[in-house]
Amino acid sequence: MNKTILVTGGLGYIGSHTVVELQENAYDVIVIDDLSNSSKEVAERITAITKKPVKLYISDIKHQHTLEAMFEHESIDGVIHFAAHKAVGESVQEPFKYYANNIGGMTTLLKVMHQHNVNTIVFSSSCTVYGDTNRSPINETHPVAEAISPYGTTKIICEQILKDLCKHSGFRGIVLRYFNPVGAHPSAQIGELPLGVPNNLVPYITQTAAGIREKLTVFGNDYNTPDGTNIRDYIHVVDLAKAHVKAMNYALTMNQSYDVFNLGTGNGRSVLEVIKAFEKASGTDLPYIIGDRRVGDVEQIWADASKAENKLKWHCQYGLDDMMKTAWKWQLVLGSGSKSS
Ligand code: NAD
Ligand code: WQD
Repeated sequence: MNKTILVTGGLGYIGSHTVVELQENAYDVIVIDDLSNSSKEVAERITAITKKPVKLYISDIKHQHTLEAMFEHESIDGVIHFAAHKAVGESVQEPFKYYANNIGGMTTLLKVMHQHNVNTIVFSSSCTVYGDTNRSPINETHPVAEAISPYGTTKIICEQILKDLCKHSGFRGIVLRYFNPVGAHPSAQIGELPLGVPNNLVPYITQTAAGIREKLTVFGNDYNTPDGTNIRDYIHVVDLAKAHVKAMNYALTMNQSYDVFNLGTGNGRSVLEVIKAFEKASGTDLPYIIGDRRVGDVEQIWADASKAENKLKWHCQYGLDDMMKTAWKWQLVLGSGSKSS
């Protein structure tokens, strides 16, 4: 019999791609999402890819009674927990929103899981927990640093809470630290839905090429890197999604109670390299200017992802060109009329 996985935030960017991969790998999936950063239509789009319906609960994970009713009613083997707010800048402006949703939401979820003897969880963390470091490639033994933003604080605290519960309360937890997820499903049925002006590089690039934004500003070219621009480890969202299936397979059978994995390609790319790759993939010239540095940007960071490769038997299949091609294909589906501010 198939195992059933509850995916919180399963209609979001990474969650939706993960639901596809789970369904395509013989897992039954239940999604809970409050639509705070997604839409119901995503469920239909997932079904268009997998030909399988998505069992959907539209609710906030902070509503303990709803969660309890769901865990009573469903037979859940494991949880992949994506549901959180993720805008770094907004978290500086509205820290309590982030503490309440990201930390409060996760503790409610963990409490209800515990009540119902569901103890296997895969948690979405971020390379932001390494803070401002110039030691790349970076592996999981690198100490967690002081957070750069309240968003980062929530990831560090949630990792710590999960570690406690794995040590003392019978949980089996996997923490996945994503580097920079980009791109979209090759079918162009699902992808990222940025609200308003994007903060992240790739949605900004695709919206500029689509004519929604006038030009891209490259945040600084005076860094100590080969072309002076920041370096990041961009990873295709489908590769990332596949890693969650491997992580869940591992979590359901592992001997230890807690483990942490970096998810990146292991290749660092500069902002200018990304722009060039996009221009090549889309056949467009991207209007851009060099601007000031953005406050809080780390100069360069990329993953040592060998632990995930070895222990989870996972490897990235997509390169930067595929990331740009699929991001552009998705932007063409979204069209040029999606400017909301
Ligand atoms: P997303 O905003 O696209 O998806 C999150 C989903 O969770 C949305 O569908 C939203 O409606 C839902 N949600 C939020 N709060 C909820 C709540 N209280 N109850 C129910 N549903 C709720 O974000 P994403 O890019 O898919 O990110 C998923 C996870 O990965 C987040 O935890 C994020 O912090 C983490 N992460 C993302 C990135 C990235 O660059 N996208 C990088 C590192 C880590
Ligand atoms: C990438 C590079 C910018 C926009 C953020 C979060 C991190 C994680 C991933 C969740 C940087 C440059 C960007 C633009 C630019 N999210 N840039 N012009 O900052 O690495 O990470 O998303 O966990 O926590 O902080 O990603 O896409 O914003 O920026 O030059 O208009 O592109 O300076 O070097 P970042 P990003």
